[in-house]
Amino acid sequence: MQRIHIADIGRYEDKEIEIAGWLYNIRSKGKIHFLQLRDGSARIQGVAVEQECDPASFAAMGELKMEASLIVTGKVRKDDRAPGGYELAVSGIEIVQNPAEDYPIAKKSHGIDFLLEHRHLWLRSSRPGAILKVRDQAIRSFRNFYHEQGFLLIDTPILTGSIGENAGTLFSVPYFDLGEAYLAQTGQLYLEAACMAFGNVYNFGPTFRAEKSKTRRHLTEFWMLEAEAAYLDNDGNMKLQEEMICRLVEDVLSGCGEELRLLERDLDMLKAVKPPFPRVDYADAVKLLQQRGSAIKWGDDLGAEDETIVVESHDRPVFVVNYPKQAKAFYMKENPANPETVLCADLLAPEGYGEIIGGSQREDDFDKLLTRIRQEKLPEEAYGWYLDLRRYGSVPHSGFGIGLERTVTWLCGTHHIREAIPFPRTLSRLYP
Ligand code: 4AD
Ligand code: MG
Repeated sequence: MQRIHIADIGRYEDKEIEIAGWLYNIRSKGKIHFLQLRDGSARIQGVAVEQECDPASFAAMGELKMEASLIVTGKVRKDDRAPGGYELAVSGIEIVQNPAEDYPIAKKSHGIDFLLEHRHLWLRSSRPGAILKVRDQAIRSFRNFYHEQGFLLIDTPILTGSIGENAGTLFSVPYFDLGEAYLAQTGQLYLEAACMAFGNVYNFGPTFRAEKSKTRRHLTEFWMLEAEAAYLDNDGNMKLQEEMICRLVEDVLSGCGEELRLLERDLDMLKAVKPPFPRVDYADAVKLLQQRGSAIKWGDDLGAEDETIVVESHDRPVFVVNYPKQAKAFYMKENPANPETVLCADLLAPEGYGEIIGGSQREDDFDKLLTRIRQEKLPEEAYGWYLDLRRYGSVPHSGFGIGLERTVTWLCGTHHIREAIPFPRTLSRLYP
């Protein structure tokens, strides 16, 4: 008997096949059992009619518990009423394991805390499945895009000796005789070294921030894709991001139609994502926010509510450019037109999803960079290698980092970032 994946079922119409998977629900009506089956690739209904099924199998079906693992044989039947267009006329089952206990996640709705506590099982449900498939598609889209653009993948270290972004949100671990190591908040500084070696580079990996904020946008462990390009200015940097985001949305729309339908995502919102994305100067954003009653002052970073207001009148992502120096990291290039600001851009997703990309042109002038390191009271000795990049063949260069989970949250139209990663790590969660 040929074992197939449910996702490929359309190729086996009227054939006898076998599926190895799990039972996620069963309903019985007289002499018929309806088995809801999944094998990880997709879901299908198996229909077992007493006269057409092996008698031992049929009898055993009455005893099956939810999430029993099964190997099911049957004939593939076209059925236009079935969700995937097919159902399985079941002729027999082999039980791999029938659980002794009831499965904790029932059909009834559970509270979010219960589901998070059972995340290891919740992953089997259709909604997490759909979100994680969108995540997988997003990662493939990014990788394909950068590969096609000729960017070299550089894996940057996770244990680092220098602060990448913000001293306030570092995780540190004891590191032998060398004192403390930090878990990377970003791979950027190392990516800049690779950029001077290879021109156009990117990385993709986990990053860590000891965020004390309990919001729907913050994880303590999240995945970031960063790109860095030599001889690219802030404007070119934004164009690259625009192209990447448009490609991403196209790939998700074409590759995850079923998942987006299951998530009840408003597709028109995603279809509107086309270049060019509006660019709003930070100073104008502050004026707008003040008119709207926000207490924000020039110099402050935008809060989540501010970001929502800034994108309100737009149907696509919005760049907010040229933030004040004091609101941003030390490595951003001073804006020659207004030295109080830096050449940077945050990309805010529409519909109130907030900042998904942080990017900038980098300070390529040795003296200015050293001054910034000193102003921020960063330990100078840890940045010797980084300053070397401005000593030997410094060039204008720019880059950015996109947070995968915030992006997936937006693409899926889900409320909270914790659903966009298989096992979320937050201020209050390390289990499972
Ligand atoms: O804006 P951030 O801090 O930028 C950097 O780390 C730069 N070094 C990137 C670069 O230029 N190479 O972070 C980039 C993105 C944010 O826009 C957001 O999407 C995501 O990372 N992010 C988080 N996602 C989830 N939880 C958190 N605590 C996050 N902090 C940042
Ligand atoms: Mg940022």
